[in-house]
Amino acid sequence: MSERKAREVSEGVRLQKVLSQAGVASRRAAEELIAAGRVSVDGETVREMGRRVDPDTAIVHVDGARVVLRDDQVYLALNKPQGMLSTMSDDKGRPCVGDLLLDRVEIMNQAQRLFHVGRLDADTEGLLLLTNDGELGHRLMHPSYEVTKTYVAEIMGQPARDVGKRLRDGIELDDGDERNPGGPTSTVTVHSFKLVDSLPGRSMVELVLHEGRKHVVRRLLDEVGHPVQRLIRTAVGDVQLGNQRPGKLRPLNNSEVGALYKAVGL
Ligand code: URA
Repeated sequence: MSERKAREVSEGVRLQKVLSQAGVASRRAAEELIAAGRVSVDGETVREMGRRVDPDTAIVHVDGARVVLRDDQVYLALNKPQGMLSTMSDDKGRPCVGDLLLDRVEIMNQAQRLFHVGRLDADTEGLLLLTNDGELGHRLMHPSYEVTKTYVAEIMGQPARDVGKRLRDGIELDDGDERNPGGPTSTVTVHSFKLVDSLPGRSMVELVLHEGRKHVVRRLLDEVGHPVQRLIRTAVGDVQLGNQRPGKLRPLNNSEVGALYKAVGL
């Protein structure tokens, strides 16, 4: 180990260097952020320049958004194509999300520890997050953190005026456990519902939910009389699918990861 590396391990790394290595800002600009009181370490605002931190353990926020310091943590957004399973492997050889990781050399080292954050039905397209950050992934999947998921659905027919209210008031659904059909039910509420486009005999609608139970959007729209023809997840929290093409992976940027951390209170 070089002398410099040994010092970094024993004494920590200067905060401005840590911020610039994390891609937040150049060292100079990071010094300005620190001087302006916009940076905190382990919950405490730091204004002095000499501060050293351990990038493996320090919790650093800039403007309240967590900064990822560890370079072994991977955060990816995938536009899952229709027809692909949300699994890392499939024993029947059906196309699955894990196949798409195999040709990404730069993430191969981490690939064994990557997992998908929740699932989309094989027929559903759109944004699926992948990470090896267990705490973040766990919280994003846990209903108590109420991270929003946004879907655009193509449905049969034109929704009547009261459909939005019915969905916002809540629809009784079972918990979606296929091993327990007809099991207990509970109310699922939709945070927001809007008509995006009207087409002959069909409509495009957008729903925002906090819920993740199985087939939830398809079942909700069935219940209000509008079977889904096509379903796309367009956002998870503040992370947007945008114009990412089906089958493409992209690393999340710092502000997207920071927003996810914030959404789950990390
Ligand atoms: N709701 C569904 O019906 N399917 C999904 O894949 C996700 C949400």
